[in-house]
Amino acid sequence: MPKLHVNIDHVATLRQARREVIPDPIEWALRAEKAGAVGITAHLRTDRRHIQDADIKALKRRIKTRLNFEMSLAPEIVAIALRTKPHAVCLVPENRAEVTTEGGLDVVKEHMRLLAVVPRLIKIGAEVSLFIDPDHEQVEAALEVGAEFVELHTGSYARATGAKKKRELLRLQRAAKLAHECGLRVNAGHGLDYENVAPIAALPHVEELNIGFAIVARSVFTGVDEAVSTMAKLVRGRSKARSA
Ligand code: PXP
Repeated sequence: MPKLHVNIDHVATLRQARREVIPDPIEWALRAEKAGAVGITAHLRTDRRHIQDADIKALKRRIKTRLNFEMSLAPEIVAIALRTKPHAVCLVPENRAEVTTEGGLDVVKEHMRLLAVVPRLIKIGAEVSLFIDPDHEQVEAALEVGAEFVELHTGSYARATGAKKKRELLRLQRAAKLAHECGLRVNAGHGLDYENVAPIAALPHVEELNIGFAIVARSVFTGVDEAVSTMAKLVRGRSKARSA
């Protein structure tokens, strides 16, 4: 069964809505850890729409588990990662107009930039993961640029219904198997919630799930402790989905 990494971006989204100091995403992350998160993920976007530079520094200093720094290949952000030395880095595509990360990184197209950046991140001791669509050419390309992990984009699965959902699950299963056979380690995430997480948590070879929005949204009603611990139980296959 995979481990739960909690993405705290949208706690910062709420804070930034008023440019206030509350709610504090670092305090929220510390509570999430106590409730069962085994890692904290934060995306420092180039437009700084939610997480700020100071949040990344404070997370690295204060959290007790692992910091997974989600980021684009923008040179300014790469430099921050190299200074921060997070436990893990997840490289994602970034587009200013998008509401959230829309698709996976095109590892084939970004081959040269990744060949330059991945070894520098490995050198500071970070586990490097590439956020990819669950396609075989992306898995193979991830291997060629020296990444240790791929994070499979579960967004299409999360949005799909009926027979298409089954096909998307199969696509994820095949990509996870191929990645594992190639010697890559496998994470997954995006769009996962209390209703759709169980089949993803049960996929072979998946080590970590990165889940943010659904947990932060539920915590508005139930508090961070309940929202994280309920998701952690679902990820471990120990509970059935329940609405807040
Ligand atoms: N993994 C990656 C690479 C992401 O970009 C995101 C969104 O920031 C997530 C996981 C979490 O997605 P969600 O907030 O939909 O749970």
